Amino acid sequence: MTQVKFHSGAAIPLEMHKVRIVQKLRLLPVEDRVAAMNAAGNNTFLLQNADVFMDMLTDSGVNAMSDRQQSAMLLADDAYAGSATYTRLAEKLREIFGMEFFLPTHQGRAAENIISETLVTPGSVVPMNYHFTTSKAHITHRGGEVVELIRPEGLEVTSTLGFKGNLDAAALAELAASGRHIAYVRVELGTNLIGGQPLSLANLREIRQVCDEFGLLLVLDASLLADNLYFIREREPGYADVPVAAIAREIADLSDVLYFSARKLGHARGGGICLRERALHDRMRSLVPFFEGFLTYGGMSVREMEAITVGLEETMDPDMISQGPLFIRYMVDSLVARGVPMITPAGGLGAHVNAMEFLAHVPQTQYPAGALAAALYIAGGIRGMERGTMSEQRNPDGSEPLANMELLRLALPRRVFTLSQVEYAIDRLTWLHENRELVGGLEFVEEPPVLRFFYGRLEPTSDWQQQLAAKFRADFGDSL
Ligand code: F0G
Repeated sequence: MTQVKFHSGAAIPLEMHKVRIVQKLRLLPVEDRVAAMNAAGNNTFLLQNADVFMDMLTDSGVNAMSDRQQSAMLLADDAYAGSATYTRLAEKLREIFGMEFFLPTHQGRAAENIISETLVTPGSVVPMNYHFTTSKAHITHRGGEVVELIRPEGLEVTSTLGFKGNLDAAALAELAASGRHIAYVRVELGTNLIGGQPLSLANLREIRQVCDEFGLLLVLDASLLADNLYFIREREPGYADVPVAAIAREIADLSDVLYFSARKLGHARGGGICLRERALHDRMRSLVPFFEGFLTYGGMSVREMEAITVGLEETMDPDMISQGPLFIRYMVDSLVARGVPMITPAGGLGAHVNAMEFLAHVPQTQYPAGALAAALYIAGGIRGMERGTMSEQRNPDGSEPLANMELLRLALPRRVFTLSQVEYAIDRLTWLHENRELVGGLEFVEEPPVLRFFYGRLEPTSDWQQQLAAKFRADFGDSL
């Protein structure tokens, strides 16, 4: 996919696959989109998928499978214990990561549950490049503290640095030397919440060195490994011609434990933990039948496990792992060229809009990223995800902790959308940017005390949504 040049010189990402199963989509008229958004409490999590034209909420469990994955699902071995399907998956993981042991879990956060239950004690700290919502929840739930050691450039919205997910290894050494009890060091590949930004192998080697010096356990969250592999080949000096599988092994060799959500890695649904050490494996193993299911399925369907095995093998193919990042880059670069504020450089996972700048007139207490998500659904039937103040939890005194960044995440599930659909999203977002003054804020009318972004309901602070729909009609006539 990276190799094909166009005679015109245009930078168009060319798909190295064809689509053979399709799902019909529906695009509601703009007036119905306003009604659907209000029925969903102005929270994109509460929309009915049947009312969504482009579902860019997440890339979790919604990536396209290959024909080889689908056919492998028919060969699954249905057995409670000792399934041949489990053996095939465990062997594939051993082949790729070179780690002896594998514990299956029903998804990524279930692996986090088992890791935290085993390693986190009250008062311990877990340093990491950046948190993910579920990983932080499991650590704090057990009385541990998350310490983020992302390098300062990781939080710069616009940048030309290729590895914004890097961890500050000197700060890690300082923390280790302070004598605080470190439960483990967590390194997240393709750092989700700061815009799918990768970490370099050079940085991982530095982190390993500190771990060796202080006897720390290094745990990798490899959910977004595929994107990170692509970026190492693309951006890290000396890796352009190194096979993907060799890079994956080099990454794994630097860690002690590696866990993943197979809703992302392997393009199916499930998860698991790979380990090198028998003693640690034995401690974690006892929790699998307790929380997940028997040791040879861990809560996963055997059909999904077969799909993961093939999906992991296909992840070692540069054509497969480049599709997402190339489409994302196309989308981000096109939007930047049209003046839309985006997180740069383009990362993995999806395109991230800087709502703080896009809606500079909306105060953070009125959730600009949430308002932008609602506005984009009205403008184009596109469902994104708020990643800003709405995703935070109130302080005990009821005040709002304002988020570092106000982002609208537009995930690009891999191999799901065509380039013309991406062009449509670019077009509607550009129109919205030109009409941004019409967009107002949101306020909660139902606010759950925890995870309010999932279930909370909000209302617009004025009739701005009707005005936006009227402008849409005026500009687009009878177009959907
Ligand atoms: N770690 C990372 C880096 C993730 O992105 C996710 C999920 C998880 C762990 C948890 O895995 O969902 O299988 O339990 N990210 C999804 C997202 C939810 O939309 O970005 P899970």
